[in-house]
Amino acid sequence: MTKHELLHAHLETLMQGGIGPDQRLPPERELAEAFGVSRMTVRHALDRLERERRVYRVQGAGTFVARPPIAKTIELTSFTEDMRRRGLVPGSVLRVFETVAAGPEIGYALALSPADEVVHVERVRTADGIPMCLEHAYLPAALVPGLTTLEGSLYEQLHRRYRIRITRAEQSIRATVLDQQAAARLDAPPFSPALLVERTAFDERDRPVERAMSTYRGDRYSFEIAVTTAAAGSPARAGRRSGDE
Ligand code: GLP
Repeated sequence: MTKHELLHAHLETLMQGGIGPDQRLPPERELAEAFGVSRMTVRHALDRLERERRVYRVQGAGTFVARPPIAKTIELTSFTEDMRRRGLVPGSVLRVFETVAAGPEIGYALALSPADEVVHVERVRTADGIPMCLEHAYLPAALVPGLTTLEGSLYEQLHRRYRIRITRAEQSIRATVLDQQAAARLDAPPFSPALLVERTAFDERDRPVERAMSTYRGDRYSFEIAVTTAAAGSPARAGRRSGDE
């Protein structure tokens, strides 16, 4: 671990352990001395936490731990995590597992040439045993050597077996209707409303590792999004903290 990572891990521990929401973190100078790093390094670590809205700064007073958002944000989760958080038991029915040429669109999304191989996984995702989503995921075959089938969570497998951790994704969500095939897979009437989620997921090294199209039954699934103003988590909170409300 670099000093920067050590410091980040220490700050994480502080925030999960002793220092609660709206409480102050140790001053930059103290952190710099404790870790034998420059104040600039400390500032960078705090900048990162601020961007993640984990802390907020109050000029002249220091850096404070932010309150966790009330509603669920659009967080990067796997289907498995998403369902568990909703109190449902996630499941999968594997329909297709194959290695194919990426083709122009998937190739473009995964920064591969169209002739490069990708693993294509088609699964019906279930919640408490009921079909919720039809998912097509494409992964560069070179990143997952020896993968010949898939049971359970894809993201857990990627992490456990290949040390690939998904850390960010570009994602779009739009309305659609189920075509005949998707309707049959999801046990729903053809042309019923659905949500199409398209995701390109990247790992810690910012390599594109997955392109996926997930079609959720519109009557069974909703996205919950916490929205905040741009100022949330900024010094504007200081007034509220000191009892302006
Ligand atoms: C979500 C994403 C998919 C991803 C899946 C992995 O549904 N939209 O892109 O493939 O999660 O879920 P799991 O790890 O449960 O297989």
